[in-house]
Amino acid sequence: MKIQYLGHSAFYIEGKKEKILIDPFIDENPLSKKKSEDFTGITHIFVTHGHFDHMGDTIKIAKRTGALIISNQEICEYLKTSKVKTKSVNIGEKYDLEFGGVRVLFADHPSEIVIGENVINGGLACGYIINLNGIKIYHPGDTNITEEMKSLDKENIDVALLPIGGTYTINIEEAIKVTNYINPKVVIPMHYNTFSIIEADPYEFKRSSEKIIVLDVGEIYEF
Ligand code: NI
Ligand code: MN
Repeated sequence: MKIQYLGHSAFYIEGKKEKILIDPFIDENPLSKKKSEDFTGITHIFVTHGHFDHMGDTIKIAKRTGALIISNQEICEYLKTSKVKTKSVNIGEKYDLEFGGVRVLFADHPSEIVIGENVINGGLACGYIINLNGIKIYHPGDTNITEEMKSLDKENIDVALLPIGGTYTINIEEAIKVTNYINPKVVIPMHYNTFSIIEADPYEFKRSSEKIIVLDVGEIYEF
């Protein structure tokens, strides 16, 4: 499995056959070195919540590639008006997918969709544990520490993608706690330094555990 950090909370993941994007905020992402059109053959796009820095280029990419978008019901309803393929999922449930499956988790964060001056109900923000050909990847979206995280060690997570920027999400100190709760094999920090309000030093986080791998934007990690 290959995982590429695209800056912010955006990741590109290649499984045996699948090409997956999570929270593809690419074209307007000040950190991104890629453009959304660089991604071809995308099979699945996971969206954690309705904010622009997570929904990002979802519609554009799904229209071009025919990727299936996985998100909550309200976001799927909104996306469907753009004639893209969606699968709506609920917090607390597990779903089988061609490559394995996904468990949908609660995220302590709002999820409204802002389009110009209109605000659309974006349902409940969520996180995902994606089982990709037997490898478990945890993407919590934007969130504070949740009660559920304290029992995620039972999931045997391989790769945890953890926000460290604070303000809208957990900060470094909290990400260290979450790392201890879930005990994954590898941790990759995300959601930092995109904007001045979420500045954080990933190497300060890295000093807390040997499991932490800091990826430069565009860098690929092979698990
Ligand atoms: Ni957000
Ligand atoms: Mn965010």
